[in-house]
Amino acid sequence: MLLQLAPIGTHADPQLDALGAVRLWEQPKGWLEQHGARVELLATSVRRGCDAAMLAALPNLKAISSWGVGYDTLDVAGAAARGIPVANTPDVLDDCVADLAWGLMIAAARRIPAADRYVRAGEWKELGRFPITTKVSGKKLGILGLGRIGSAIARRGQGFSMDIRYHGRGPKADVPYAYMASLVELAAWSDFLVVACEGGPATHHLVSAEVLAALGPRGILVNIGRGSVVDQAALIAALDICALGGAGLDVLEGEPGAPPELFHRNNVVLTPHVGSATRETREAMEQLVVDNLIAFGREGRLLTPVRA
Ligand code: DGY
Repeated sequence: MLLQLAPIGTHADPQLDALGAVRLWEQPKGWLEQHGARVELLATSVRRGCDAAMLAALPNLKAISSWGVGYDTLDVAGAAARGIPVANTPDVLDDCVADLAWGLMIAAARRIPAADRYVRAGEWKELGRFPITTKVSGKKLGILGLGRIGSAIARRGQGFSMDIRYHGRGPKADVPYAYMASLVELAAWSDFLVVACEGGPATHHLVSAEVLAALGPRGILVNIGRGSVVDQAALIAALDICALGGAGLDVLEGEPGAPPELFHRNNVVLTPHVGSATRETREAMEQLVVDNLIAFGREGRLLTPVRA
């Protein structure tokens, strides 16, 4: 039996129905206890996740297909210990998330939302009164996490004639950017620091008060990875004393929702975790959830297994 833990989307849900998926959220209380042993395949999402308790309730599970490139809400290690492969939906969202990272960089540096509010509020009565801002082209771009999305961000940076360096799990062969072993040193070097790494315990609060201090009053932080990577209290404290130039944030600690302390700041741009949220990309992600399940059913292998 195929069990679906949460809606995946209008493109995938009819296809999952056609594969005979049972929708857990439509079942009566106690369904899992009664039928969990019949479940062999699972469709879920990074939002809904699949924790150790869910795995324990599915003793005969054979494979998991999850929507989203992130897998921080899935017990991948627990699944691996039982020989259960887990698929995510990588690659298909790289361009859209990288596009949004660039949108946030430019919007924060050039203060586009603040300029828009200024015009709409009828304050544009004289030329040259809106504050001057910060140039993006030709600056120094630091990337935390040069994976598929980080690399797509870097490629765009080349088009903006930026000097690019990165920090992450270690130096990579065959990339034209310098690796910096210290994140604090990368932040001190960078004009823009973009967080493009995964969430989870290994990256929790990597962007600490010390990193933010190194980025400094002219530096701009962009986060399209996970809110948990940035120490949000430290970020607000740095913005409070003008020790950070600005921020563009698509992900936040404690999302959904954002701390009101961020609302009144013209140097902060906020978006509601929409990096992959274009029609084209979301359809491709949903299709990959379905295709992984079909491939596993036919050939006993997932197309895009998580490489944790
Ligand atoms: C992902 O794919 O992990 C995104 O963050 C989900 O919106």
